[in-house]
Amino acid sequence: MSESTSTSGIQSVLQEDRVFAPSAAVSAAAHVHSLDAYKALHARSIADPDGFWGEIAKELHWYSPWSKVLEWDQPDAKWFVGGKTNLCYNCVDRQVDAGHGDEPAIIWEGEPVGGGGAEVRTLSYADMQRGISRFANGMKSLGVKKGDIVTVYMGMVPELAMAVLACARIGAAHSVIFGGFSAQAIADRVVDASSQTIITCDGSWRRGNIVPLKENVDEACKMLGEKAPANVIVVKRCENEIGWTAGRDYWWGELCEGQSEECACEPMDSEDLLFVLYTSGTTGKPKGIMHTTGGYMVYTYLTSKMTFDLRPDEGHVYWCTADVGWVTGHSYIIYGIMPNRVPTVMFEGAPNHPGPDRFWDVVARHKVTHFYTAPTAIRAFMKWGDEHPQKHDLSSLQVLGTVGEPINPEAWMWYHRMIGGERCPIVDTWWQTETGGHMITPLPGAVPTKPGSCTVPFFGVDAAIVTEQGEELGADEGGLLAIRKPWPAMLRGILGDRDRFVATYWDDIKKPDGTRFYKAGDGARRDKDGYFWIMGRVDDVINVSGHRLGTMEVESALVSHETVVEAAVVGMPHEIKGTGIAAFCTLASGVTADDALRKTLRAHVGNEIGAIAKPDLIRFTDVLPKTRSGKIMRRLLRDIASGKEGSGDTTTLEDKGVLEQLRKNDKG
Ligand code: WT7
Repeated sequence: MSESTSTSGIQSVLQEDRVFAPSAAVSAAAHVHSLDAYKALHARSIADPDGFWGEIAKELHWYSPWSKVLEWDQPDAKWFVGGKTNLCYNCVDRQVDAGHGDEPAIIWEGEPVGGGGAEVRTLSYADMQRGISRFANGMKSLGVKKGDIVTVYMGMVPELAMAVLACARIGAAHSVIFGGFSAQAIADRVVDASSQTIITCDGSWRRGNIVPLKENVDEACKMLGEKAPANVIVVKRCENEIGWTAGRDYWWGELCEGQSEECACEPMDSEDLLFVLYTSGTTGKPKGIMHTTGGYMVYTYLTSKMTFDLRPDEGHVYWCTADVGWVTGHSYIIYGIMPNRVPTVMFEGAPNHPGPDRFWDVVARHKVTHFYTAPTAIRAFMKWGDEHPQKHDLSSLQVLGTVGEPINPEAWMWYHRMIGGERCPIVDTWWQTETGGHMITPLPGAVPTKPGSCTVPFFGVDAAIVTEQGEELGADEGGLLAIRKPWPAMLRGILGDRDRFVATYWDDIKKPDGTRFYKAGDGARRDKDGYFWIMGRVDDVINVSGHRLGTMEVESALVSHETVVEAAVVGMPHEIKGTGIAAFCTLASGVTADDALRKTLRAHVGNEIGAIAKPDLIRFTDVLPKTRSGKIMRRLLRDIASGKEGSGDTTTLEDKGVLEQLRKNDKG
């Protein structure tokens, strides 16, 4: 560790000097063989985006060509203007048409392990084509059509992949809601998207228990009343007992019965909506991030190919452990991977069920070559002990990836040694729901890695560390991470909220001449070698186990409980989650502040949002630290939650006695 560096109030204390270069063998086989080759390609992609992306896009299928690669009228980008394509076609039919119909597209493994081992289903591209087509026809029979938004609330079953691909096939957009979210969360999102159809499962397996998905959907529909969707399609998975509303509910199996195995792909305009995915922001309401067809397709295809160095016909088996409920699952289980014709593993369960070696068992049995997971999982594996990975043969692994939050160098080194056997490059991929695909990442054969750094920008990405005036900062100076040029998979907006789109991403970093940069919301620095080091969010968003939560969302959930008058939520360091949630609550008079209430409030937040939002620490207080103008001073709360004495400036604090009280009250 060296001394810290600081600019614009953003501090960086991490200094890591180890460098790991790819082996000669890895580099020789890779798409990009060296750092110089990467640099030349990157320079070209920035200088001539039209030429660069136009060539890549031609590797995929289009019904009719684009007239222009990029139209940029900040902050609005159009990519492959006027081009017509279909993403389902490029994931599935293109492989079948080229004679690869019998090859495995999806290798699915269920969670329960019975006497005969876990259930495994391997679906070929031809199986996918048939299954998707029948389901697409089934949806059409219910009146689902191009331009609709279909809500998907499912467990990790192959039908989930079929569902989203069937939407893409007929030109309906999807809105996938993570299966861990609550009925309230479903209701909010269904209304926002005016969704008329929900696809769900009876239940989903999670550590041997059944998550009652259909029950949650029923509850959401009840909350929605007249605004409830007209159709609920249910995949039978756990065979748990469920309620049934005739005329609204349909079994997936029955809906598909008798449907034709042929369903033509709808030629979609490059800028037609592909999906909406809700993510947290700094205000209470989640925002529906919009991604369109052509640019997203080309970008996720190329990032998958380059970041993981995927090549067909070389025995690659790719596994991303994310849930399709998050953007990682959209881009790097389905949409980017399938066009590369490498089988993608889909796993239903948890990493520690039935035992803490489950992931390594899956890797060994399926001979996984590419493994992509999150730092929070890696830290959990470290804690569970080396004996679990050591029990299994992990020699099939070639490339390891991480995503979701900064990875601490200790976890990086453990991953490198224990899982990668010191031979697998690690790609630490920085990106966001809004960016659609990897933005800053090493390429396995080309870019030497440094533990804790996501390294260098991907092709076409003009990333910089800047001030709010758009001035670029020097080496190792902390600042705002910004993107200066449009990239193909960038978000096209927030559903129904143009002002919020502009205000959140494009208003804060502006050059004096009016040029706007995309504001990622992360603080970062760039070292003297041009490597990026992400320091974390600079707004009121916290990253819990790699999943984004707005502190305001958790606060609104807390104050919606009758006992809580006011709440302030901040992040705090957490051994496994990276960042945990600390909540400071002021209670209504007469309410007893005790552990029973803590339990009630945690459960309440679980009901309002979902289990991931439950606070790790709840402190009760008579007052919150505020400025004279009434703004809660979160910085001080962060110090208290992380056990720091808090040497920062408190001159604007209205009532200094508050801090003493908060520190004393340290019952978690
Ligand atoms: C935020 C985006 C992208 C899919 C998962 C999360 C953080 C993401 C990294 C990384 C450091 C990272 C950032 C970002 N983040 N990847 N490799 N290193 N931080 O998607 O929910 O949209 O969250 O996750 O803070 O802004 P998301």
